[in-house]
Amino acid sequence: MSADFQLNNGVRLPAVGLGVFQAPPDETVQAVQSALEIGYRHIDTAASYLNEREVGEGIRRSGLDRDEIFIETKVWVTDYGYEPALRAFDKASAKLGVDRIDLLLLHQPVPEVFARTVQAYRALEKLLEDGRVDAIGVSNFTPALLDRLVDRVDILPAVNQIELHPYFTQAETQAANAAHGILTQAWSPIGGITFYPGYGQDRTSTLDDPLIGGIATAHGKTPAQVMLRWHLQQGRSVIPKSTNRKRIAENFDIFDFALADEELARIDKLDRGVRGGPDPESPRPAIFDLKIPEA
Ligand SMILES: NC(=O)c1ccc[n+]([C@@H]2O[C@H](COP(=O)([O-])OP(=O)(O)OC[C@H]3O[C@@H](n4cnc5c(N)ncnc54)[C@H](OP(=O)(O)O)[C@@H]3O)[C@@H](O)[C@H]2O)c1
Repeated sequence: MSADFQLNNGVRLPAVGLGVFQAPPDETVQAVQSALEIGYRHIDTAASYLNEREVGEGIRRSGLDRDEIFIETKVWVTDYGYEPALRAFDKASAKLGVDRIDLLLLHQPVPEVFARTVQAYRALEKLLEDGRVDAIGVSNFTPALLDRLVDRVDILPAVNQIELHPYFTQAETQAANAAHGILTQAWSPIGGITFYPGYGQDRTSTLDDPLIGGIATAHGKTPAQVMLRWHLQQGRSVIPKSTNRKRIAENFDIFDFALADEELARIDKLDRGVRGGPDPESPRPAIFDLKIPEA
């Protein structure tokens, strides 16, 4: 377990980043500023979260050097294709107020128009060549879609950011990522998708899981800390989201304890094989309703 991971192109990515999905713009500046004060050096945002501007503002208000912070963002599907994805970089960098982005991802595959997904990835390769981004990657790619992409491009993704928490561990996708030398990054790492309001009635929250709770008590830690530690010890990057300073600090306070192999294995067994988020292989026309505004 280390506090950062080396990507397949040599770039180092801080292991714990702050996620800002569903962080309202007015709370995002403060959340980012708090995280950076607490010690985070990595923020994960996306064009579609509509808060890149506030992420940039939080970074500026921290007073830290831009180069000390790892900025990760994602191109939304309505900006796929080669030229649109190049322009998506311009929009994102202008909103963030930076001229270089550390890690730029395709937010999700669009299998039904995969050629446009590939063209967007080609644009990421060009941005990498030109030094505008330090690393490129994907999100929500299944092993089959990863193979389809890798067959058609020159540069392997450095990261695949996927839904991954104790109730949905995606062993096959993790193995496919590892086989390609791609770092697995867990979204909803503490199971956010299992307890967001409005996501269905019969969901049980990973935060209330008795096994995780028992391990947490044994270590004098919280369930969220146990889940984050489980990821790190298994080599996954995490980007827990919170806009609450106390919980932002809690999610970073995970470097003073270690889970036993047997505890990691017991958490692995909680997998239910049921995703909380959308299936990346199924067409969802509604994703094209969101157009990313200009900077
Ligand atoms: N690529 C994708 O398609 C995709 C999809 C989803 C998410 N993501 C990324 O992954 C990040 C994290 O995923 P996520 O936001 O879905 O879920 P998450 O980080 O697993 O959980 C976030 C939820 O947990 C609460 N929380 C945070 N820390 C807590 C703690 N210590 N104890 C109890 N509750 C806590 C947060 O509320 P408070 O804010 O009130 O603390 C929020 O409701 C996102 O922010 C985003 O950057 C990517």
